[in-house]
Amino acid sequence: MGAAADRWRELQSGRGIPEHIRRAAPADPWTHRAADFAPPAEPADTPSRAAARALAERAAAWSCAGASVLDVGCGGGDAAFAVARPDPSPVARVVGVDRQADMLAVFAAAAHERGIPYGTVQGAWPDVAADADRHDVVVCHHVLHNVVDLPPFLAALHAAARGPAGGVVVEMLPEHPMAWLDPLWRHFHDLDRPPSATADDAVAVLREELGVEPEVRNWTRDRRLPHDAGWVARRLCLPASRLAEVESALATVPPRRTDAVTIVWSP
Ligand SMILES: C[S@@+](CC[C@H](N)C(=O)[O-])C[C@H]1O[C@@H](n2cnc3c(N)ncnc32)[C@H](O)[C@@H]1O
Repeated sequence: MGAAADRWRELQSGRGIPEHIRRAAPADPWTHRAADFAPPAEPADTPSRAAARALAERAAAWSCAGASVLDVGCGGGDAAFAVARPDPSPVARVVGVDRQADMLAVFAAAAHERGIPYGTVQGAWPDVAADADRHDVVVCHHVLHNVVDLPPFLAALHAAARGPAGGVVVEMLPEHPMAWLDPLWRHFHDLDRPPSATADDAVAVLREELGVEPEVRNWTRDRRLPHDAGWVARRLCLPASRLAEVESALATVPPRRTDAVTIVWSP
């Protein structure tokens, strides 16, 4: 493994939650609520959507059959369904991969509602990559910061994109999505969090492992609703009895950053 992949592994491993805190947590601090990931009827017009749409249009024109889109760590499929808007859609089929079955249920319902043929694969990427097959466009939004061993994850994204017209679109935040809560780990658990792996670190792994020089776009997204004290308490492994304390402590930390990064490459 190269230096960039080692650095990613070390930084990501450092973001684990110590066992004694995790054992005392009233709920799993990592699991996402599927209902929070239902895709909007009208997707946001972002650089990631534009990049995936351009790849899908190119693939559809090349094949004359419409493009297939694979969404890895799909949640409710925001990334994949955004490619199909506006009409006329270049998308013929979408496949969602996620390790959470409830996310795939939201994905399936959204595909059904939109009348888009779909498939789902439950499991952890890259273990289930063979079941997902190859596609014209591979999208993967807000998943990389869940991954410790990045080279096989990226290699499988790369291998899942079939040429010559397709490609991969990764969207992520410049730093770990929970990094804004680091001061609260110190406040509540007396725990210093190590620095976060960054999007630049991920790009360095891509270069090092796959020899890929991606197109990288930094942009600002709409401010997301602030996460309420209940949501934050769960991330911090705290019980409901401490909600009032979490609420006051939240007022002391800077709001979440709103910048995002789109990383695009073709195999
Ligand atoms: C932050 S959510 C993002 C969901 C969606 N891509 C979006 O942008 O709205 C991350 C999703 O990735 C899934 N996930 C994380 N690591 C995964 C892995 N190795 N394989 C498959 N799914 C994964 C989680 O279950 C979750 O649904």
